[in-house]
Amino acid sequence: MTETNTSGAGRPSLPMQGVPQPRRQDVLNLPRVHISSHPVMAQKVTALRDRNTQPPEFYRHVKEIGALLAYEATANLALEAVPIETPMGPMTGQRLAGGIGVTPVLRAGLGLAEGFREVIPDAQIWHLGLRRDEQTLQAIAYYNQLPHQVDLQVCYAVDPMLATGGSAIDAINVLKRRRIPRLCYVGIIAAPYGLLKLSQTHPDIDIYIAALDESLNDVGYILPGLGDAGDRQFGTY
Ligand code: PRP
Ligand code: URA
Repeated sequence: MTETNTSGAGRPSLPMQGVPQPRRQDVLNLPRVHISSHPVMAQKVTALRDRNTQPPEFYRHVKEIGALLAYEATANLALEAVPIETPMGPMTGQRLAGGIGVTPVLRAGLGLAEGFREVIPDAQIWHLGLRRDEQTLQAIAYYNQLPHQVDLQVCYAVDPMLATGGSAIDAINVLKRRRIPRLCYVGIIAAPYGLLKLSQTHPDIDIYIAALDESLNDVGYILPGLGDAGDRQFGTY
């Protein structure tokens, strides 16, 4: 899934060292990629990046960004007519046509999923555990609570960090097996490398992010980024 460099012993050392990466401007106009321009979002992402932001505050900001991203990512959902009675009389209202699924990629996706639930309380939450092997940068699946009966109009895979793209690509692969009509990826910060890979591998999905950063460092962390999104949410440094 990702190109890796190996040391003499055959073990990857600096897996992104020497790997060509697209520049930020190369991926700014990819089809179906939506980069938020909301000023409140920008301020909250800055708070996340700040190394002095502690886990409780960090988690709160991730959750709030999740709610803002949910507004942006649900802006074109399908509606259906529903007859209701207001105190003044009958009318035809609207409701979402079909269920909404949210798949947090564990564990860092949990805060984002909470934000989605603030906006869409009856969304189904489908947990998916993927852990990135920090030597090879390959995503390893360890948990899957996806139902087999699917009645959704759309499912959002949510994960704050799109680095090499391995975890996001695998998450969408898993969801595609459920034959959901529409899939989206929602993240906070993307590196050009991972964004391009995800967009090329899954050109049929919409990608919503809050910020597009510069690059990956030699060990696959996003620059300038925010560090480890899971550790910073849950205090496991
Ligand atoms: C982080 C992040 C993504 C993945 C991104 O998770 O939340 O899932 O890395 O990297 P990639 O684009 O190179 O795959 P991590 O594996 O650190 O697990 P965690 O959520 O438990 O911290
Ligand atoms: N995962 C993170 O949490 N941060 C990064 O910068 C890359 C992967």
